[in-house]
Amino acid sequence: MNITSTGHQQAADTSGFLYLAPIQGVTEVIFRNLFSRHFSGFDAAMAPFINPQGQANFKQKVLADVLPECNTGLPLIPQLLHNNAENFAAMAARLEDLGYDHINWNIGCPAPMIVRKRRGSGLLPYPDAIVTFLEEVMPRLKARLSIKTRLGLQHNGEILALLPRLDDFPLLEITIHARLGKQLYRGTTDLEGFAACQGLTRHQLVYNGDITDIDVFNDLAGRFPTVQRWMIGRGALADPFLPAAIKGAAAIPLPEKQHKIMAFHDDLYSQYRERLFGPSHLLGRMKQLWAYLVAAFPSQDRLLKKINKVSSEEQYQELMKDLRQSACKEMD
Ligand SMILES: Cc1cc2nc3c(=O)[nH]c(=O)nc-3n(C[C@H](O)[C@H](O)[C@H](O)COP(=O)(O)O)c2cc1C
Repeated sequence: MNITSTGHQQAADTSGFLYLAPIQGVTEVIFRNLFSRHFSGFDAAMAPFINPQGQANFKQKVLADVLPECNTGLPLIPQLLHNNAENFAAMAARLEDLGYDHINWNIGCPAPMIVRKRRGSGLLPYPDAIVTFLEEVMPRLKARLSIKTRLGLQHNGEILALLPRLDDFPLLEITIHARLGKQLYRGTTDLEGFAACQGLTRHQLVYNGDITDIDVFNDLAGRFPTVQRWMIGRGALADPFLPAAIKGAAAIPLPEKQHKIMAFHDDLYSQYRERLFGPSHLLGRMKQLWAYLVAAFPSQDRLLKKINKVSSEEQYQELMKDLRQSACKEMD
């Protein structure tokens, strides 16, 4: 597997290199495989973070999501959330044994429990700790390391102070979600904050945050002409055709889109049904997905409410049958 070199070769001659963002609870292996089979446009995917293990000795099952033999779709970058150099290095060594030559370090996650443990964006107010971590970890890595972060936890002075210090390390790239950790996923992205980062690093920056449609992407591409790489999460879950549109694919009429989305949905449902334990887990997964996908069915009144009310597989299937029928009618 040579994810790194493949990725960077493609970046030169396309409208941009597109990553599927990691979304814990959604973009795991089954989703990633099926998404890339049904929709085009993404060049690679970043896996949701592997839960940090307290000890260097951990069970094989924590790697289940990133086993290369199960990941049959997009090139994959595994992500770690550790703040302990020794445990990070042990996990990274296992990933290297699996063939990965690019590993991502998450110092952007805003979840309060994680921030409290000084992981994710909880590390951003402590640039010395980040630098010490990198000094300890980087000499032990065979794989290239990239970072995914935010503009800060409390204010963007945090990233502005950190970036010049990261120049000392041979990082592959730095992905910045242009929000603060304290915002969680609320409020707007801070494009001036992202622009301020550009002059402060020698590293390649990947833009991430609220790329929701082609117009937004074009505006961002015009505003940040030196950015070659982009990461899209929720925008692609709501409109799985967005990555292809960014790559120049012709627009598809909405009913046809809906038909294709339902084909993806049906494959996903049947694979989840095989792999997940019990209907509540299965329905929970589907409800989480519909929170985004509902945007592709604008004429369906109260669809998400109806889906969220469902408490059995039979009710769910009944609702999907109705949805499929009305999507078919719109195609006629
Ligand atoms: C439910 C949820 C789970 C997420 N899980 C992760 C994760 O595991 N690792 C990570 O780096 N980012 C994670 N993110 C952040 C996304 O990767 C991305 O940075 C963020 O959603 C902004 O991009 P978007 O506006 O294109 O979605 C998560 C976001 C959401 C909403």
